[in-house]
Amino acid sequence: MRVSWAELYSEIEGCRKCRLCEGRSNVVPGEGNPKARLMFIGEGPGQEEDRQGRPFVGRSGELLTRMIHAIGLERAEVYICNIVKCRPPQNRNPEPDEAAACLGYLRAQFALVRPQVVVLLGRVACQYTLKDQVFISRDHGRWFPQKGVWFMPTFHPSALLRDPAKKRDAWEDFQKIRDKLAELEAEGGDEA
Ligand code: URA
Repeated sequence: MRVSWAELYSEIEGCRKCRLCEGRSNVVPGEGNPKARLMFIGEGPGQEEDRQGRPFVGRSGELLTRMIHAIGLERAEVYICNIVKCRPPQNRNPEPDEAAACLGYLRAQFALVRPQVVVLLGRVACQYTLKDQVFISRDHGRWFPQKGVWFMPTFHPSALLRDPAKKRDAWEDFQKIRDKLAELEAEGGDEA
């Protein structure tokens, strides 16, 4: 699917491909730099995201924003989106058929942004994007290069809010992300 941003966002706005459309107040397509070097993929919108139509603007979003700042970037410099673009009821995990219905949008976003580094926030983001089976506790901070793009699983910010002891590991992951971006820039953006 080769589309423009305008076509893609308008298709997402009107999407009725799965049951999640029935409960939404707003779709949450994603936001940020359309040519970002760094892309974050979460799971799906929560209550505040559904209300505002923007990704990661609730409590876990505040934490993600602080972590982005901590590696010297602004939110507007990166691209942030989710596996599913509509809020699952009671914030449950997206069902496989819901994720499958939405994955074409994520692929189109990925093709438009063409990031060098993709950070996968939590297990659900990994499950639908990586071929390998990932356990966040074991695999966070590891690089999974795929077709010239560096993918890294890390903790979902809501897991860090539930268990602040994980924040130290998450910070180490973010330092690796910062270092990888610097390394790729020094190499002139060479592929993985
Ligand atoms: N959690 C997610 O996975 N995505 C959001 O946009 C907000 C919370």
